Amino acid sequence: MGKIELLAQDVVNQIAAGEVVERPASVVKELIENAIDAGATQITVEIKEAGLKEIKVIDNGVGMTAQDAEVAIARHATSKIRQTDDLNQVATLGFRGEALAAISAVSRFTLLTKTADDVAGTRVIVEGGQIKEVSPVGCPRGTQILVEDLFFNSQPRRKFLKSPRSESGAIADVVTRFALGYPKVAFRYYSGKRLNLSTPGQDDLLEIASIIYGKESRGQFLQISHAEDGIEVQGIISDPGFTRASRYYQSFFVNRRLIRNYLLSRALENAYQGLVTSGHYPCAIIFLTIDPRSTDVNVHPTKSDIRFSDPQLVARILYHGIRDALADYLQQQRMPEFFLGAQAEHPQQKEHPRLQERGLHFQTAQPLIDTFEQPFSERGEMIAERQSLPDKQAFFQKMRLLGQVQGTYIIAEYGEAVFIIDQHAAHERIRYEEITANIKQKKEFFAKNIS
Ligand SMILES: Nc1ncnc2c1ncn2[C@@H]1O[C@H](COP(=O)(O)OP(=O)(O)OP(=O)(O)O)[C@@H](O)[C@H]1O
Ligand SMILES: [Mg+2]
Repeated sequence: MGKIELLAQDVVNQIAAGEVVERPASVVKELIENAIDAGATQITVEIKEAGLKEIKVIDNGVGMTAQDAEVAIARHATSKIRQTDDLNQVATLGFRGEALAAISAVSRFTLLTKTADDVAGTRVIVEGGQIKEVSPVGCPRGTQILVEDLFFNSQPRRKFLKSPRSESGAIADVVTRFALGYPKVAFRYYSGKRLNLSTPGQDDLLEIASIIYGKESRGQFLQISHAEDGIEVQGIISDPGFTRASRYYQSFFVNRRLIRNYLLSRALENAYQGLVTSGHYPCAIIFLTIDPRSTDVNVHPTKSDIRFSDPQLVARILYHGIRDALADYLQQQRMPEFFLGAQAEHPQQKEHPRLQERGLHFQTAQPLIDTFEQPFSERGEMIAERQSLPDKQAFFQKMRLLGQVQGTYIIAEYGEAVFIIDQHAAHERIRYEEITANIKQKKEFFAKNIS
């Protein structure tokens, strides 16, 4: 007898389940995705003991007939694609027909579901991949899935889980990102008896961001809306003064699929270059809409990354969308646009259209030797010249930008003077002056009106 044998089906299923269901948060992600694909407008997630004792996801989507409910938990059973070609333009979040099979293989699993047309609903109970019961049941339209004792039959997986705190944190993270990604859906998230998140489902992204990031964030987001070469970029990004110490507050959705993609994160951060100090990251919720035929969603077992046929193009368009929004913001703040760093990720970005429109061009830095070889007396005059600088606006317009050093220092010349500007410090100074002007105005108001 040979050494090689085909594995038994239950072993195959366990191996496959291990890829899809890494931790409790993976279950929550898959079940939310299913609810969204089912057109739900209300999704409730309840967990007990970091999701290990219980995860319940309730939706008001289209539900399943009795026949579908039983098939749904089989491997490779899906209503979302039919043939290989469909993989080229997946319009739903799910497509592999794996999630319910995987989850029910590693838990005690109960599915309750009903369509609008059926009088009765269906209950399917599965334990470690074995169907235990299929019966009619009274339940509202939609689907409820209860996952108990996750990994009860998979001790190795249990051992590799992190602390309950970090597992519940990962679940909260998943729910939060979906809540941001789907402002039309009302999400409720309970951990134990505690309601941790509730979103109104009124298609107001800023409102959801303020629920999640705190009320004070409300005025600190800029809207982005940009379209180029058939790719759309929408969403909100934080103004440069509102940053965080990690990338945690950045979410990217490509055709509404929540993904992690290094290239997109890089494009976002490059767009802020010079406006935020290193170690600080902007907050952003970005929606990219792109022809699904230019993407491959079938690249990761958890569907959490995506491949683009032209990744550089996508990154560049995202970069442009963000730069435009930042350029508008700087203009509103009356800050010179060259605060948008001169360092460019792509050569094409060097001459950003917004900068060109306003007559600003970055030029290759010239050797500065000439300036510094001037006799001291002349340099003294240059310093004296500072006293008679024209007003701010004209001054910046006449300033010639030479380049940027270390992504931080802008080198510019005006007349015979060379300026080295610490971009971030200057930005902070402008904000400081705004705040003090504001306080002064308020003081005057009170002095005048309350005496
Ligand atoms: N909440 C739900 N409401 C209605 N139908 C559902 C729901 N969850 C699952 N289904 C049905 O069950 C099928 C199987 O679900 P499952 O999550 O296993 O696969 P999928 O979503 O098609 O693909 P993937 O494995 O990529 O998630 C789905 O195709 C869908 O028809
Ligand atoms: Mg699915």
